[in-house]
Amino acid sequence: MINVIKDTIFKLDTKDTSYIFRVTKTGQLENLFYGKKIKELPDETALSEKNSVGMGTMVGYDQKHQTMILDNLCLEYSGIGKGDYREPFLDVTLSDGTYVTDFIFKSHKILSGKNDSLGNAASYGENIKTLEIELIDNYAGLSMFLYYTVFYASDVITRQTKLVNNSKDRVQIKRIMSMQLDLPYAGLTMLTFDGAWSRERNKIERALNSGITINDSKSGASSNRHNPLTVFKRENCTQDEGECFGVNLIYSGNHYTAAEVGMFGKTRILSGINPYCFNWDLKAGEQFLTPEGVMTFSSRGLNGMSQNMHSFIKNNIVRGNWKDKERPVLINSWEAMFFDFDEEKLLGLAKESADLGIELFVLDDGWFGRRNNDRSSLGDWVVNKKKLPEGLKGLSDKIKKLGLLFGLWVEPEMISDKSDLYALHPDWAVKIEGRTPSITRNQMQLDLTRPEIVDYLYNALEAVFEEGAVDYVKWDYNRTFSDMMSGQTDNQGEFFHRYILGLYNLLDRLTARFPNILFESCASGGNRFDLGMLCFMPQTWTSDNTDAFQRIFIQEGTGYGYPPSTMGAHVSETPNNQTFRTVSFDGRFNTASFGLLGYELDLNYSSKQDKKSAIEQIEFYKEHRRTFQFGTYYRLMDGFSGNYAGWITVSEDRSEAIAVMFTKIHYANTNSDILRLKGLDDDKMYKIEARRQAFALKPFVPIVSKAVSMVTPIKLPEDGVIAKNVLEKIVLKTEKEEYVCGGDLLNNAGIKLHQPLVGMGFDLETRILLDFESRLYLIKELE
Ligand code: DGJ
Repeated sequence: MINVIKDTIFKLDTKDTSYIFRVTKTGQLENLFYGKKIKELPDETALSEKNSVGMGTMVGYDQKHQTMILDNLCLEYSGIGKGDYREPFLDVTLSDGTYVTDFIFKSHKILSGKNDSLGNAASYGENIKTLEIELIDNYAGLSMFLYYTVFYASDVITRQTKLVNNSKDRVQIKRIMSMQLDLPYAGLTMLTFDGAWSRERNKIERALNSGITINDSKSGASSNRHNPLTVFKRENCTQDEGECFGVNLIYSGNHYTAAEVGMFGKTRILSGINPYCFNWDLKAGEQFLTPEGVMTFSSRGLNGMSQNMHSFIKNNIVRGNWKDKERPVLINSWEAMFFDFDEEKLLGLAKESADLGIELFVLDDGWFGRRNNDRSSLGDWVVNKKKLPEGLKGLSDKIKKLGLLFGLWVEPEMISDKSDLYALHPDWAVKIEGRTPSITRNQMQLDLTRPEIVDYLYNALEAVFEEGAVDYVKWDYNRTFSDMMSGQTDNQGEFFHRYILGLYNLLDRLTARFPNILFESCASGGNRFDLGMLCFMPQTWTSDNTDAFQRIFIQEGTGYGYPPSTMGAHVSETPNNQTFRTVSFDGRFNTASFGLLGYELDLNYSSKQDKKSAIEQIEFYKEHRRTFQFGTYYRLMDGFSGNYAGWITVSEDRSEAIAVMFTKIHYANTNSDILRLKGLDDDKMYKIEARRQAFALKPFVPIVSKAVSMVTPIKLPEDGVIAKNVLEKIVLKTEKEEYVCGGDLLNNAGIKLHQPLVGMGFDLETRILLDFESRLYLIKELE
């Protein structure tokens, strides 16, 4: 809801928050408040900054307003050269070479819906309104529009900036932010989600002290180094209580979020395109629109903040036919076969998959050109007939006959120097004539700043998707930029942003042309997990790391900003390909089930027991799929600290929930674990039961053999026939543990779980959880 009071005060209300700013007497925009909802505002001066006698040597706005000190105001926008020395919102060089700007309020408008996105990825929604504020700088001949779109139900406000050049001369934009949030206090802790390939989005916390702290990406993609999601929490903010802010950017390129604690202890947060290597020529009459910044406030702690972001993504970012649809359980050929396959092998895997209840078969890398390894063929989107003699159509038909959907991997933004495309168009690769390009994985990027290359890709992919009657596409992106040079513009400061606009144009056209295809974005796993990609593709491959233990951190970190319905998560083989760690088959499922479940292993080599478990897992997942994928998600604790991690996802009507609890390391003879839940209805009665997992006796055989030998006359050498042929094959079920109790007990007290393994022996009641293992709990309302 957008309230305009006395034509100069703007109060944006969401369900639980208020965002308030006003026009000062000199025409600046002063932020008055962002936080928990305020119903009425009879006197805005209660919230305004008071400077009646100046502040030492601080610069006053002008002779008449000596005590108007911009450096001490919370502002909606800040320029350079009028006394505010904090990080600027805008940095432009005018035609006279100066870089001072002074934008003054001109007018406001309320738009129903949103402003034009001008080629950016954009949020959307029904019954939404946007506040447009126009500011002008007469000297510079520039207008600046600030947009605020209010997403009432999600407690989210998005922000966007448009600069219009009304002068007769060219202006250079060196920095233009999407949003500025000035808070009148310090003492915040900043949470960022950092990592690397296979170690994405681990939560890092740092207390903000005087000075500037930056969360950014310079690699051309939103990156696995530093995700654009940035969280700011106040003192005493926990998972469920206290105040915090979440900030994100609907953008897949170089992002920048800076927090500056200034000289008077106010905190400025800025977010937008990274000024790194950015320089945009704005010619006379032209306009430039930034990506959209996203902000939310929660007084329900970090879980509240995450839930706001999740609701916004589910309702206002993800779109199209798959938006609310349950996503299919898939099998992916990559870790099963890598490049080593032919039609027969693929069909063998597909047949096994169909038998287990899998619904979608995804053919990963290696099906096109001469691609038998990663050294060639990117750009040649023509099927390899040696591997697939009947083409994509032949394979797809056969897969579909097995009752499976057919999915295909592509990596359209890339080109191999060993490819027909490169032989034809060497200038299409991003590189600088006369310099030797830096290469990774034997590939370069295509110059998507050029419309003819975007058109080529559209046509090539259209043909492939049509031929294969493709139901699902995995869109990969396996390198980041080097040797940046656009063939489209002489100003190379525009390269990075123009690339992203070219990519969005391609995605926009393809998703419109193929509305039924389920797209999953991927970038060596999670190198481009961001709101921009989610505007086109409902889901993202979270990480190439499929190790169920390390995935706890990757998925929990990701979950701070993105819901389970966006996270691809697969059960793969052990020892794990990335970490060589072994986690039980059901343990692997427990982690993967809190995302979009898939399998990524050669089922032809799986044991009978694993296949039996897979059938049970898939049945269980399908039965509770809506809750797993679209439920309300809470962290039960902070999984990045301590020995446990736990999550719960609760169905909309709170009649069903599934919780998972992970033990990182098993310690002997500890206290009982308490499983305390969240989000259940205090007034409902529930049955809660541990999902009984397969529990192979194999790791215990040496202990069991020794014990039998000690207490009976039977001698059982651990490598003897009985141990090998009988004991090692025994598979038991984990403990039977169930209770009936009220939601109030589960939410407020929690359950003291069965005794864990102590070392004094164990029985069928013992909760046996070795290192890295976990348990799922199903919670159902009693009829
Ligand atoms: C990187 C992806 O993240 C993997 O899942 C796989 O698709 C490979 N690329 C294929 O080259």
